[in-house]
Amino acid sequence: MEDELRNMNVFHKIADDISSKGWSVSNELFDLIFLSDLLNELNSIWLNDEFKKAAIGRANDQAIQPEIRGDFIYWLNPKNLSVLQNIYFGKIDELRLFLNREFFLALENFEAHFAVYPPKGFYKRHLDQFLSQQLRMITCITYLNFDWKKEYGGILRIYDYKDDRKFEDVIPNAGTFVCFRSDKIYHEVLPSTKQRFSLTGWLRKSDVFGN
Ligand code: OGA
Ligand code: MN
Repeated sequence: MEDELRNMNVFHKIADDISSKGWSVSNELFDLIFLSDLLNELNSIWLNDEFKKAAIGRANDQAIQPEIRGDFIYWLNPKNLSVLQNIYFGKIDELRLFLNREFFLALENFEAHFAVYPPKGFYKRHLDQFLSQQLRMITCITYLNFDWKKEYGGILRIYDYKDDRKFEDVIPNAGTFVCFRSDKIYHEVLPSTKQRFSLTGWLRKSDVFGN
């Protein structure tokens, strides 16, 4: 019950932030023991060489462009989630239903990948919604970096959608959960000096075929 209440408070704050400025940062959604187990899972997949160099674009139009992004990703399979991944998806699903009620949205599903940025890795300023397929609505990122220090870099820089000269920086510390409008909020990942781990996903509308 206490957990439920805490969740609702966080969800309300997220909705308020998203409606006022398009993005939100919170620290209370996932506990650190859960996240360190999730990081272990990421690590074993990474050590098994199952990550792929991330590309730009979508479907048949993808290209690896190291001058734009330098991360490696591993897509989670919604039909074959581990126990931990399933807990994560469950919480995001509660957020999805909450945002649907709050904003009369029709968010239908969630796609997510683990990401590893090697040292010096970055991702230049971009929007997450594709021009060719506008299904991604809300980006959700959970960081998995324990004892991350500001000096390591790897900052997520979020630009003000009303004034491009303004931005705010988020330190990718374990436990920090960021979400923002995928259609509106420009953002970038600054280079880091250490490996940087995250779980990044998108709440999406379904397309006309229900996918
Ligand atoms: C992305 C992205 C930001 C981050 O994967 O599209 O912008 O902080 N990630 O990892
Ligand atoms: Mn992005």
